[in-house]
Amino acid sequence: MPWYSSEMIEEVRSRSDIVDVIGSYVRLRRTGSTYMGLCPFHSENTPSFNVNPSHQLYKCFGCGVGGNVFTFIMEYEHYSFTEAVKFLADRNGIAISGGEMSEEQKKRESIRAAIIEINTKAAKFYYALLKSEHGKYGYDYLKSRGLSEETIRHFGLGFAGSGGVELYGYLKKEGYSDTLLKETGLFKMDERGAYDKFLNRVMFPIMDISNHVIGFGGRVMGDAKPKYLNSPETKVFDKGRNLYGLNYAKKGRKKAFILCEGYMDVIAMHQAGFTNAVASLGTAFTEYQANIIKRYVEEVLLIYDSDEAGRKAALRAIPILRRAGLSGKVVSLNPHKDPDEFIKAEGTEAFEERLSSAVNSFFFEITVLKDAFNLSDPAQKTKFIHETAKKLLVFRDKVERDSYLEAIAAEHGIPKEDLKNLVIRYGNSYTENYEEPLERRTERKKKEEKGITYSYQLFLSELIANPNIFAQVKEAVSPKDFFVEVYREVAGLLYQQLEEGELIPAKIVGQFEEADTQKIVADMFQTDYEMDMSLEEREKAFIELIYKIKEYSIENRMRGLTDLNELQKLVKEKKKWQNPGNLHISLKDG
Ligand code: UTP
Ligand code: MN
Repeated sequence: MPWYSSEMIEEVRSRSDIVDVIGSYVRLRRTGSTYMGLCPFHSENTPSFNVNPSHQLYKCFGCGVGGNVFTFIMEYEHYSFTEAVKFLADRNGIAISGGEMSEEQKKRESIRAAIIEINTKAAKFYYALLKSEHGKYGYDYLKSRGLSEETIRHFGLGFAGSGGVELYGYLKKEGYSDTLLKETGLFKMDERGAYDKFLNRVMFPIMDISNHVIGFGGRVMGDAKPKYLNSPETKVFDKGRNLYGLNYAKKGRKKAFILCEGYMDVIAMHQAGFTNAVASLGTAFTEYQANIIKRYVEEVLLIYDSDEAGRKAALRAIPILRRAGLSGKVVSLNPHKDPDEFIKAEGTEAFEERLSSAVNSFFFEITVLKDAFNLSDPAQKTKFIHETAKKLLVFRDKVERDSYLEAIAAEHGIPKEDLKNLVIRYGNSYTENYEEPLERRTERKKKEEKGITYSYQLFLSELIANPNIFAQVKEAVSPKDFFVEVYREVAGLLYQQLEEGELIPAKIVGQFEEADTQKIVADMFQTDYEMDMSLEEREKAFIELIYKIKEYSIENRMRGLTDLNELQKLVKEKKKWQNPGNLHISLKDG
């Protein structure tokens, strides 16, 4: 794979005008200082796809996608970042050459490539073994679970024998060093020697979005524990950033993904024709995974196991989906345990019916909430209604909230006006912690993080729209006040541009290599409040943002501080930022 220097990438970006490039895919019409068109990433009849020539960024106000000219090409053409750079260079007749990687980058890249190469060989080895006489036990097991020959091949399933060093011996013969083999997580190594980690298991290679084998899951064929053993995290395998089955699911053009718990569930669903199924890899569903999903679909059907653990996992996943802007629905499998067992017992058509009768995730949450109260007790019923009112505050859009409110009131026999009044009451003392009764403290911490990153995004976006306020703003907030790494880095780059009087947000986006990071960065520049506000309200809100960022920053700096003088200084500084001072900032109308 070629590698391009950041100067080269910036050269390509600056010479690929975003209006010109996107205009060759989408019919754009000028409206004021920007261009609008029909979004190519979701279906719509009225244009909400916006291209901003001065920022060189695009954003869809309908589905939320956004980025610079590279991310557009990556998304539209399904290219990797490097491919997109090459594509745009060719399009504009720019001669680019690879190379010029720093020594450290070269080393990192070559280790990653080697791990993937070894993983691929291991997957082939396990597959060959499954198909051989020695693998008959594993093969029969997979067959007994209803997998076809074609499915086994499609997912590259394999078998790890019980010899102890079979894979190790094979890869040594192929000439790999122990140091490298150790990096793959496929071996146990100690003073006495090296051994295969996976023994006597059927093997599930885990592929990333570009079909690279990044790790494995291995299942015992009986009741031994642990049932599944997984590769540890390595330089190429990050569990929270990948989804099993995504390499196939992304190819379909379905409007939803099905999110389940296990390897076998994904495979059974794909085999039955539901090729939009993915699974988080034996860990809790993450924001990162939600954001990946958001690139392909608008909706997620949650189909977790029917047990208490599955129900809890669904309740944890719902707010994550919501925050990523995905609409969630919950599928019931009752009385069966998981999708694999359901399909086996009831067949494809019955499964399809379950999918289409999935309940809206908010209704699911309220139903679970309701189960926690004894509604024949008036005090408990009151409590249930109060909690419901609080939960309704997750909808910041009034129209949406009201329609949920009406549906919930009707469904659970709550007088509509009572519920409305409570919502208004709680809405006035609105805090980010409205879901606390249901979720644990750690969840709240995560939400605070989201709260602050949302503030960072709004702040940076507003600053870009109003570069004239920079002189004033930098007196109050510095990049050091950003307490989430990527935001701090971006703020630093943006401040540098503003200092130098050259504001090109898309250039900052291009400075991050990873596609996912680029999207996060692009979002930092194009976030808007979730409600309409007058100019005056915006100004007030912006000052509140400054206060929030400062307070968070000071609190973080205070944490773990032992020097009393320092602490007192910070306490004083914090006081200052808690009382609205006489800061006034004039924003442009727009
Ligand atoms: P389940 O226990 O629900 O298994 O775990 P399953 O998917 O139904 O598997 P089968 O049908 O018994 O073969 C769900 C997922 O949790 C992870 C795996 O990713 C599994 O697919 N898991 C489970 C582990 O990583 N380790 C374990 O020991 C068990
Ligand atoms: Mn199962």
